Amino acid sequence: MSTRLKFVSVVGARPQFVKLAPIARAIREYKALSHVVIHTGQHYDKNMSASFFEVLELPKPDLDLGVGKGSHAEQTAKMLTRLESALVASAPDAVLVYGDTNSTLAATLAASKIHVPVAHVEAGLRSFNRLMPEEINRLVADHCSDRLYAPTPQALGNLENENLGDRAVLSGDVMLDAVLHNTELADEKSTALKENGLQAGKFGLVTVHRPANTSRHELQKLLEALERTAHEHLPLVFPVHPRTRSVLEELAYEPPDVLTLLEPLAYLDCISLIRAAAVVITDSGGIQKEAAFLHTPCLTMRDETEWTETVEIGINQLVGNAAVDLVEAVGEVLRSENMFNKGTLQQLIEHYGRGEAARCIVKDCIEWIS
Ligand code: UD1
Repeated sequence: MSTRLKFVSVVGARPQFVKLAPIARAIREYKALSHVVIHTGQHYDKNMSASFFEVLELPKPDLDLGVGKGSHAEQTAKMLTRLESALVASAPDAVLVYGDTNSTLAATLAASKIHVPVAHVEAGLRSFNRLMPEEINRLVADHCSDRLYAPTPQALGNLENENLGDRAVLSGDVMLDAVLHNTELADEKSTALKENGLQAGKFGLVTVHRPANTSRHELQKLLEALERTAHEHLPLVFPVHPRTRSVLEELAYEPPDVLTLLEPLAYLDCISLIRAAAVVITDSGGIQKEAAFLHTPCLTMRDETEWTETVEIGINQLVGNAAVDLVEAVGEVLRSENMFNKGTLQQLIEHYGRGEAARCIVKDCIEWIS
């Protein structure tokens, strides 16, 4: 490489900090690359943002746009105006955007309108449910980006079906890179099991944050299902996302002893609890995959998933938004020991790129831009 290339990564929400970490590490392997990190400020609480930068050994963002909360339009509009001037000032060779949040959408639009090449990490995911804000963000990000890094063959197939195959690369999944890099560290450093009096294999881990599950009515129904599950089967721990926390406060919710509410978990604690849990019950995209990578059965409280291969091998099951059959589904999971053979799980790791996704993306990005 003759001239020094400058990449700007734009992140803003918790899952994006996780995806950024392996990319930042891979970029550091090249002396001839410079990397600027812009944080939109979509997530701003210490335990949703700064703690992730510390644990994932990410340098502090070069710029924090401090956007904070707002409706989708307000949040995205603030990001767009602030990102446009930040990108003009920084004049990068390429902008890297991650996943499917409002920060992804804003960064893709801001960069592509000023003709800065955009690369989308975790491209091609589709739930085929346009009621999800993330689905709209993915569609726009994929169609406006110049380079698309598909984590799985299914994601690549989705891009080909939308005539985007010529800019797509099958890269593997950076979230697998992150899990493989951090599992041992989590074993060494996380005190979450001890602090919460938990024993491996004897509890379930719950997370809920999707808009479809956090209206007062929907959340109340989910809480009833979770309480019945905790009474009948095993204690549940539930780290609560800020959106969900504010609805629980409106409901003046008092959990029973068997359902413990926690603050959002730091990344290593999250990995540690996913690995130790007997079952994960979630509506998160990332946690479904992390559970599969760590061999923990997962019940997903949604009607569809982007990670269909986890369902195909049986480690993930959709129990629907309303989770009406949660008690039975958890019972079934707990009864079936050794559900997954090591060969199938190894195939899953291969399918998601064997932990080499970030290196593949950075190498390709350099060649593409040069
Ligand atoms: C966003 C992403 C979603 C991702 C999720 C991970 C979009 C459309 N959705 O959803 O894809 O899975 O992040 O968490 O971008 N809040 C705080 N403190 C914080 C962060 C948020 O109090 O540190 C509050 C916000 O003010 C808002 C609510 O939580 O009221 C939701 O935050 P928001 O950024 O709108 O989206 P998420 O639900 O986190």
